[in-house]
Amino acid sequence: MKVIIAETAEEMSRKAAEFFADRIRSKPDITLGLATGGTPENMYALLAEKCENEGLDFSHVKTYNLDEYAGLAPDHDQSYRYFMNVKLFNNLNIDKANTHVLSGQAEDLEKECAEFEQKIKEAGGVDLQLLGIGNNGHIAFNEPGSSSDSRTRVVDLTESTIKANSRFFENENDVPKQALSMGIGTIREANEILLIASGSGKADTVQQTLEGPVTEDVPASLVRDHDNITFIIDKEAASKLEGEY
Ligand code: GLP
Repeated sequence: MKVIIAETAEEMSRKAAEFFADRIRSKPDITLGLATGGTPENMYALLAEKCENEGLDFSHVKTYNLDEYAGLAPDHDQSYRYFMNVKLFNNLNIDKANTHVLSGQAEDLEKECAEFEQKIKEAGGVDLQLLGIGNNGHIAFNEPGSSSDSRTRVVDLTESTIKANSRFFENENDVPKQALSMGIGTIREANEILLIASGSGKADTVQQTLEGPVTEDVPASLVRDHDNITFIIDKEAASKLEGEY
């Protein structure tokens, strides 16, 4: 486990974008696992800039997203497919056919999850998986209590996640109560993981993830023993860490 502490959220984004750019340059047909949320937004803008100004080439890159809200159409402005299109894919020279986001509107959601797993396998697995972290320690939508061998499935969102994510919706009742999410077992199969976090609001959960017990109560702690995992966190998110990094 490697921990990099950035001075600011801006520096976290720059370092994370450079980390991704480096892996894409070394393997142009890389398979990326991608995340949504406020944390990666700036990093995605920087990747788009690198594509436009530095010729970072996404034409052979494949992507698989961590999760999607159940029930939201791909063009709903809070769906994760919409987020990814607007924040990243529309701004890259990527072939949209190579970008995969679970469908929240599939007729049979469990079947959609099983097929997503199959597609990842057929692509040869994820080379580099990006993770954010929820206030309660969730990764993707693996809420506390998710097991370390969980697979892509339909999950119920906790009250605290619904509350946290309601900031993006007009009102709290509009937040879907369920989502489709890669499992922790699925995430752990990636060759490499990069987890990013910023802001003092994440300080407790980052401390528990890195220094607390490995427990289903803090789902992110279940990936920290991955043999190729890097954390890039800003100073505020690192403010409660006790160890030296
Ligand atoms: C959502 C996503 C997670 C993300 C988390 C944190 O719940 N499902 O993948 O890591 O939010 O979001 P933020 O980066 O906005 O704090």
